[in-house]
Amino acid sequence: MAPRRCSSTAPPAASVLVVLATAIALVGADDPYRYFTWTVTYGPINPLGTNQQGILINGQFPGPRIDCVTNDNLIVNVINKLDEPFLITWNGIKQRKNSWQDGVAGTNCPILPGANYTYKFQSKDQIGTFTYFPSLAMHRAAGGFGALNVYQRPAIPVPYPPPAGDFTLLVGDWYKAGHKQLRQTLDAGGALPLPDGLLINGMQSANFVGDLGKTYLFRISNVGLKTSINFRIQNHTLRLAEVEGTHPVQNVYDSLDVHVGQSVAVLVTLDNPPQDYAVVASTRFSPANLTVVGTLHYTGASSRAPGPLPAGPPGQLFDWSMNQARSFRWNLTASAARPNPQGSFHYGTIQTSRTLVFASSAPQIAGKRLCAVNSVSFVNPDTPLKLADNFNIANVIAWDSVPPRPDGGAPRQGTPVVRLNLHEFVEIVFQNTENELQSWHLDGYDFWVVGYGNGQWTENNRQTYNLVDAQARHTVQVYPNGWSAILVSLDNQGMWNLRSASWDRQYLGQQLYLRVWTAQQSFSNEYSIPTNAILCGRAIGLPH
Ligand SMILES: *[C@@H]1O[C@H](CO)[C@@H](O)[C@H](O)[C@H]1NC(C)=O
Ligand SMILES: *[C@@H]1O[C@H](CO)[C@@H](O)[C@H](O)[C@H]1NC(C)=O
Ligand SMILES: *[C@@H]1O[C@H](CO)[C@@H](O)[C@H](O)[C@H]1NC(C)=O
Ligand SMILES: *[C@@H]1O[C@H](CO)[C@@H](O)[C@H](O)[C@H]1NC(C)=O
Repeated sequence: MAPRRCSSTAPPAASVLVVLATAIALVGADDPYRYFTWTVTYGPINPLGTNQQGILINGQFPGPRIDCVTNDNLIVNVINKLDEPFLITWNGIKQRKNSWQDGVAGTNCPILPGANYTYKFQSKDQIGTFTYFPSLAMHRAAGGFGALNVYQRPAIPVPYPPPAGDFTLLVGDWYKAGHKQLRQTLDAGGALPLPDGLLINGMQSANFVGDLGKTYLFRISNVGLKTSINFRIQNHTLRLAEVEGTHPVQNVYDSLDVHVGQSVAVLVTLDNPPQDYAVVASTRFSPANLTVVGTLHYTGASSRAPGPLPAGPPGQLFDWSMNQARSFRWNLTASAARPNPQGSFHYGTIQTSRTLVFASSAPQIAGKRLCAVNSVSFVNPDTPLKLADNFNIANVIAWDSVPPRPDGGAPRQGTPVVRLNLHEFVEIVFQNTENELQSWHLDGYDFWVVGYGNGQWTENNRQTYNLVDAQARHTVQVYPNGWSAILVSLDNQGMWNLRSASWDRQYLGQQLYLRVWTAQQSFSNEYSIPTNAILCGRAIGLPH
């Protein structure tokens, strides 16, 4: 099964050639263009057997899958037919020099009901399994998410033989309550209820068909709101082939933990007697204890494989999960999307320019439960940070108003942006002081996850870091009352959201922005504001 190229709408008419010319200036002119028109509506869905109002894209739940190739230019016109402002963010797409297209509240004005916005971005130098999802309010609880697979260009080898086919699995927790009801619960200071189900591709079952003896790539993304999953296939092992756009050492696992916002791709060889085998995802570290079962069907098989569903890893043992996470290693000799070998970059020998320790918490602020980073609970301003910075609008951004380490300050609300210099090499430690597993995501970047640990992080923990072949990825879990440490090379100028991937925590303020910048203004560092940028708040009417 050859990768399906991106489906596209009809070529643009002359009336949009001006827009096109701009796109060519902003993104790679020589690379193919893929056009999409996405109409976002409410519509009935029924994933758990009762009718719900879903958020559909072109009538679909989940949204359409984008299959494209490294460096393709993606032109996605999103038409908002909902009753609320809407944005889509492209999870794991690095938006090189182009945080203008990141689609979060700090970079883009919302697309108002009845309006549209055309995202223009490139899958620059990337290969792998990514997703997109609505970034505002609690919209993603109702749908609007989908898969975004980037295939390699023909000249670029990936470190495994071409699979006979690939399957895309969007797995996530699901709630019977609608997105507005969940938002009201959070706004009233309540906690999210436990999820009512787990879904694979919007369903409670899914069928994957393959031939005996052949090998298939399973792309698994956790698109849920907050629940970690474990993934496994009855009587089949999983050979890890890709982690969020990077190539790991291809270890073989019986099952894999995938946390919210993360993606992995595994190679599965159909080497058992031809039958139907259970494809299982179950919740991890959640009292919800939910399971969803799909089927791996061998062509021609007519019976179910005997035996129980494959068991998941031991219940609440975080050590098991942490050890598995540590076993993820970067393949230093595998080539990347670019023809130069990844391993030529010895990240472990680079001096870090600074350390940021971000401790998350869920404090009461003015009588309401919010979430915070170093005591600051993020509030979205009326004007996106990126626009405020671009137009030098005062009193929007509170520069560097989050302490670089937890300082015991009183819990408060704010709009912090951390100023960092282009090409800094930074250590960030995520400190979890709660009993809940956390997941952190950084837009615009991959980072090396150099360590996971229990308890309070101290400088001594650096001795345990993997400075040789740590896994690079864009979303990292932080175990309860533990820490995770990352190193990141700040080579992508822009305004980048660092956030909890647990969506209730993000919504309640566990996020901030990093502004990566240099005084030397150049289009080789960052593109200028798109001509179709929506202006809002204090940027309304400004020339651009
Ligand atoms: C909205 O869509 C039209 C085409 O239907 C396009 O010309 C226009 O640029 C889009 N608006 C934005 C803000 O991208
Ligand atoms: C790493 O990638 C190389 C190059 O493609 C491949 O030959 C090798 O098998 C991979 N190593 C491991 C341990 O996965
Ligand atoms: C398949 O797995 C089950 C446990 O889930 C085991 O009892 C059985 O022996 C396995 N069958 C084969 C053919 O390996
Ligand atoms: C989870 O549910 C399964 C049945 O679906 C049951 O066998 C198992 O004991 C439950 N585990 C916990 C921790 O409740």
